Amino acid sequence: MINIRRATPDDAPTVHSLIRALAEHQDQAWGVTVSVEDLKQMLARPDVTYLIAERDGQAVGYVSWLERIGFWSGQDYLHLDDLYVTGAERGHGVGEQLMRATAEAAGGKVIRWEVAETNKAAQRFYTRIGATLTSKKIGRWQPR
Ligand SMILES: CC(C)(COP(=O)(O)OP(=O)(O)OC[C@H]1O[C@@H](n2cnc3c(N)ncnc32)[C@H](O)[C@@H]1OP(=O)(O)O)[C@@H](O)C(=O)NCCC(=O)NCCS
Repeated sequence: MINIRRATPDDAPTVHSLIRALAEHQDQAWGVTVSVEDLKQMLARPDVTYLIAERDGQAVGYVSWLERIGFWSGQDYLHLDDLYVTGAERGHGVGEQLMRATAEAAGGKVIRWEVAETNKAAQRFYTRIGATLTSKKIGRWQPR
């Protein structure tokens, strides 16, 4: 049975491994520069939520999000950062359970996230659970 719970600062080493696993899956391991110590502090923040899915006490997936406010709507919303299920566990409903747990925590707030144009399997998954997908370019600027 899958158990979904909110990660605490003590889970930082597990959280670090899961984030690395997603980054490796996406061939972006180089992008993970966060340390276990950084994660300990992040997991203590009230605006950060990280849910871990466990099977028999073993982490098999996660969803993470930040609380944000929309200037146009004036409403709070949840900005999903990541959704990930480990390879052997995919296709058995864990991802949907994580999204349902997020919806429950959202308490009626809108949930927003980004998905790569090339990630067709994840796009099918999101559409199947009832989400709407629209295309937009993502800006990134490191001012010097
Ligand atoms: C996308 C993801 C979170 C879905 O979790 P999941 O537990 O496999 O999802 P569920 O079992 O609830 O639903 C299965 C659906 O996920 C999709 N899916 C995506 N990748 C899959 C995979 N490798 N194996 C099986 N199903 C996959 C399928 O479209 C499937 O939908 P279908 O049954 O209509 O074909 C998971 O496959 C995953 O971690 N993928 C790699 C990381 C990723 O792409 N994350 C999203 C970034 S935006």
